[in-house]
Amino acid sequence: MNTIIPNAIERVLLDEETIAVRVHELAVQISTDYVKSDNLVLIGVLKGAFIFMADLARCLTVPHHVDFIALSSYNRGTVSTGAVRLIMDTRASVTGRHLLIVEDILDTGYTLDYLLRTFRARNPASLRTCVLISKPDRRQVEVPVDYLGFEIPNEWVVGYGLDYSDRFRTLPYIGVLKREMYK
Ligand code: IMP
Ligand code: MG
Repeated sequence: MNTIIPNAIERVLLDEETIAVRVHELAVQISTDYVKSDNLVLIGVLKGAFIFMADLARCLTVPHHVDFIALSSYNRGTVSTGAVRLIMDTRASVTGRHLLIVEDILDTGYTLDYLLRTFRARNPASLRTCVLISKPDRRQVEVPVDYLGFEIPNEWVVGYGLDYSDRFRTLPYIGVLKREMYK
């Protein structure tokens, strides 16, 4: 396939093939771990996780439901302020169910920390996290990640669900945004 690389992209960091292989590996691991637990619910964090979640869910070999939440994280450009607000909750009740939060990227950790506290308070049967990308250098709060796709350096990445000001989400690869785009 002919991959289109917009001018705003510095370079491709993770190509389609690399992502697909890793997502499949994560799905095998998750399917193994949840083989004995019914009532698995994947909770995708909108909007960023929508593509990752769709690919991951279709690779799972265990029964599961999908649900979504949406957050607003009061970003100023590429800078997170740390304040998080739930703007759309899950459709179904999560009490007594096995929850797997599916997130696109872990940066400061504020978002996932907020989600873990929020869902823990609702008494699920279990609560784990699956994150496609982590930027460990940026962490402000430590959060447990049970399933991790990739660790990357501190750069702004877009594509495969990830955006910059709501742009570039549907690029099939994950690319580094040119610094001049947000400097
Ligand atoms: P955290 O709360 O700082 O961990 O930020 C998590 C959220 O920031 C993610 O869910 C993304 O929406 C956004 N984010 C952080 N880094 C990037 C990036 O490199 N590209 C796109 N979105 C990002
Ligand atoms: Mg996100």
